[in-house]
Amino acid sequence: MRTKMVAGNWKMNKNLQEGVALAKELKEIVKAPKCEVVIGTPFIHLATVAELLKGSPIKVAAENCADKEKGAFTGEVSAEMVKSTGAEYCILGHSERRAYYHEDYAILKEKVLLALANGLKPIFCIGEVKEEREAGRQNEVVKAQLEGSVFNLSAEEFCNITLAYEPVWAIGTGLTATPAQAQEMHAYIRSLLAEKYGKEVAEDTTILYGGSCNEKNAAELFANPDVDGGLIGGASLVAEKFKAIIDAR
Ligand code: 13P
Repeated sequence: MRTKMVAGNWKMNKNLQEGVALAKELKEIVKAPKCEVVIGTPFIHLATVAELLKGSPIKVAAENCADKEKGAFTGEVSAEMVKSTGAEYCILGHSERRAYYHEDYAILKEKVLLALANGLKPIFCIGEVKEEREAGRQNEVVKAQLEGSVFNLSAEEFCNITLAYEPVWAIGTGLTATPAQAQEMHAYIRSLLAEKYGKEVAEDTTILYGGSCNEKNAAELFANPDVDGGLIGGASLVAEKFKAIIDAR
């Protein structure tokens, strides 16, 4: 049975005090979730939040890591540094990083390798933009993203990857993919995994949906057989909403 998961992605929201307050609230209300619960926070929160969440079922993720191991890369944060905070996961390949910080397939491939080498579990995001969906190209886009950055991994390495399908047109727009659109894409992704790594790996890989997933639509999305949970942006910033999504899983 593959892991079901609800992961938050705070993005560039919450200063340290606000982030700590939210993590404390979540610790109070998320006691015995039926799925893996992860919160992705900015780098500056990681160590404090990971410490605060010791003894809680909630795990911590970074939202990024460097594509270099260490050295003179001013302002960067390496996978090793992330790991040393107590974080277990690292979100990589988010469409905002691809679009605004020009992270291409090769850069993301390096980041994934470094995250894995340092014992972090990547939550690797893929998804098409609106024009690609309108042109019916979503499958080829997602396939290329997988081939470009994670299909170099061995099956053993790939077992540490969680995928997140996040159609870019649905992120922060209120335009959620329909449950049928999500299921169709997740099933397609799983078929690619089966082709590449075999049926067992495909069946064991957790594939999250992200993009305007909230406390109202989560249950309907999660009811699909290939949708294993959600990667939540806006709704993860409010403890009660995030809890309601966890309860829907
Ligand atoms: P929203 O839930 O705000 O649409 O963001 C989704 C997302 O990008 C999660 O990584």
